Amino acid sequence: MKKIKKIINKKNRSKIVCLTAYSKNIAEEIDKHVDIILVGDSLGSVLYNYSSTRKVTLTEMINHSKSVRLGVKKSLMVVDMPFRTYTTKNIALKNAKKILNETKCDAVKLEGGKKVIKQVEYLIKNKIPVMGHLGLLPQSVKGKFKSKGKTSREIKQLMNDAMLLQKTGVFAIVLECVKTPIAKQITKDLKIPTIGIGSSVHCDGQVLVTDDLLGLNETKIKFVKRFLNIKKYINLGLKKYASDVRSKKYPSKKHSY
Ligand code: KIV
Repeated sequence: MKKIKKIINKKNRSKIVCLTAYSKNIAEEIDKHVDIILVGDSLGSVLYNYSSTRKVTLTEMINHSKSVRLGVKKSLMVVDMPFRTYTTKNIALKNAKKILNETKCDAVKLEGGKKVIKQVEYLIKNKIPVMGHLGLLPQSVKGKFKSKGKTSREIKQLMNDAMLLQKTGVFAIVLECVKTPIAKQITKDLKIPTIGIGSSVHCDGQVLVTDDLLGLNETKIKFVKRFLNIKKYINLGLKKYASDVRSKKYPSKKHSY
């Protein structure tokens, strides 16, 4: 709860930095730089080449989260509840408890507003911290990914959902691919922080998929900025290893029993 209060208190003070992690070693490094680590169900496409996050299972989320937990010391750790694990309030509670008990994470994230509000309410009533997710909802998309907040109907729904989630007690809301003026307005209207992804600088914080920003995962998504070409460094090390094995430089006496 202390960690969650700290996140909420950042609103209008300092930007909230959030990144995804799917395993321990990278989580350990990310933990030094961020406020929130999200075990996102984006791991389905990034690690398993699934065509949709709908294929991600609860077991996969739990196993990756257990690994991430080993690397997280200070950040708030949030785990995505995968598709079909929160279809009713009772199913949501059973699965959220399983995620919390087995992974020792701090909170869960659910996609949607009014449609999942009974589930969100029930989790919070049972003392499970919840992060909301509005705008583009990957678990609901069947075809192409499109930005949200273009029509007056979409705008009204986004505004209403954001208010409803806040009233229900979520501690923050991810806004994915929401048009700039709408993301700005929602951020201004809410007392809790918004975490943007493709939703402009006006959000209270930002989240990205770590593999995308490091250049490990090749993607052409508009909102992704590649901050590093990590493959270049990986290949330097791998090339040196292969060359030393072939030239019998490795292992030397120092590395042999
Ligand atoms: O699954 C995920 O990684 C996410 C973020 C990118 C917001 O939900």
